[in-house]
Amino acid sequence: MRLQGKKIILGITGSIAAYKSAFLARLLIKEGAMVKVVMTPLAKEFITPVTMATLSQNTVLCDFFNHDNGDWNSHVELGLWADIMLVAPASANTLAKMAHGIADNLLLTTYLSVRCPVMVAPAMDMDMFSHPATQDNLQLLQKRNVQVIEPASGELASKLQGKGRMEEPEKIVDALVVFLGQQKKKINKHVLVTAGPTYEPIDPVRFIGNHSSGKMGYAIASELLKNGIKVSLVSGPVSLQLSHPLLETIPVNTAQEMFETSAQIFENCDGAIMCAAVADFTPVTSLDEKIKRKGELLHLQLKPTTDIAAEMGKRKRHNQVLVGFALETNNELTHAIQKLHKKNLDFIVLNSLAQPGAGFKHDTNKITIIDKEGKQYPFSLKSKTDVASDIVNYLIQYARYDQD
Ligand code: PMT
Repeated sequence: MRLQGKKIILGITGSIAAYKSAFLARLLIKEGAMVKVVMTPLAKEFITPVTMATLSQNTVLCDFFNHDNGDWNSHVELGLWADIMLVAPASANTLAKMAHGIADNLLLTTYLSVRCPVMVAPAMDMDMFSHPATQDNLQLLQKRNVQVIEPASGELASKLQGKGRMEEPEKIVDALVVFLGQQKKKINKHVLVTAGPTYEPIDPVRFIGNHSSGKMGYAIASELLKNGIKVSLVSGPVSLQLSHPLLETIPVNTAQEMFETSAQIFENCDGAIMCAAVADFTPVTSLDEKIKRKGELLHLQLKPTTDIAAEMGKRKRHNQVLVGFALETNNELTHAIQKLHKKNLDFIVLNSLAQPGAGFKHDTNKITIIDKEGKQYPFSLKSKTDVASDIVNYLIQYARYDQD
């Protein structure tokens, strides 16, 4: 009983492979799962709701409401109930609609509402599968954390040989067991992350900015989400995108906007990781019209911005954890320790531009975590994803998030 007590939404779409969903439902029940089936209108042409209701031991949902008594089939409730949504078979049409947020049947509205992980087992003709449109849609879904169970190769319903057969039910169940086994325990916390640079306007076309790409901050947000932690990501202008049911992203431009947004969110958070490269100075005035060249020196008057991390440090309650970064070029440890105390941080993550492969823009970073007692935890150069994992694991242990 490898899926004892797991709540699974089994989505079935219009594909010849829908007959395999009957075996799949039986196997899931045998493994101890609770299964609720949602079918697209076309799926009913391939396998009957009666078959699926009998095998899943639950009423099958196909329409937005019950035509006999008008009862509303709540996709939101269904979405909250499930531990995982599995769409098998997933046709090219449904994959495309999932990728583009189209919501014209109950399976799709359920997909858009679920807070749990989603897996798809594509099934279609080989040319449809290899078509760039389908491949792009699958890539987009994977980017949004949808797990794809690759189709097998072999004889297809069209009699052609190629890749497109839905994977066998036994293998889908195995993939589900492995995936759910890997899922970390959901940590019911809410963390604010700041990421990217800020842009301080000089005039309508110019600004003071910096080289932050947002990669480090987004990797941290992603790692928190993997642990089931809700994230509010306050992001300066970057070209990155992250999507997750537990994520809200608030784009900002200036240090002042980042401060105001972060302060409001921090009020109701369990912690914050301040990874943004916030401008320390901003022009005293930003002109409404483009400054013209006059061939003479131009003097810009700058004033200090609010130190967001320090301000959060003043407002921090005893049950909140505040993590800062220190981006240094020299006397790294001394400066980092000063910042840790001055900003009332719980710990600080030091990275230095003097280290090759560390800091701005790179896909890698090399950090040292320093705690309030001055203990140092140096890490080797690694990908920003792995660095983020080290920081989040340290935070979880420090704040005892896994023991609540
Ligand atoms: O975005 P990437 O290209 O991936 O690069 C990642 C990074 C190098 C930007 C990141 O790892 C990093 O070091 N972020 C902090 C950059 C920084 O501004 O460091 P600092 O030492 O100047 O600031 C110390 C701390 O105070 C930081 O947590 C910073 O977010 C915060 N701060 C600084 C100034 C300010 N006005 N408000 C702040 O909150």
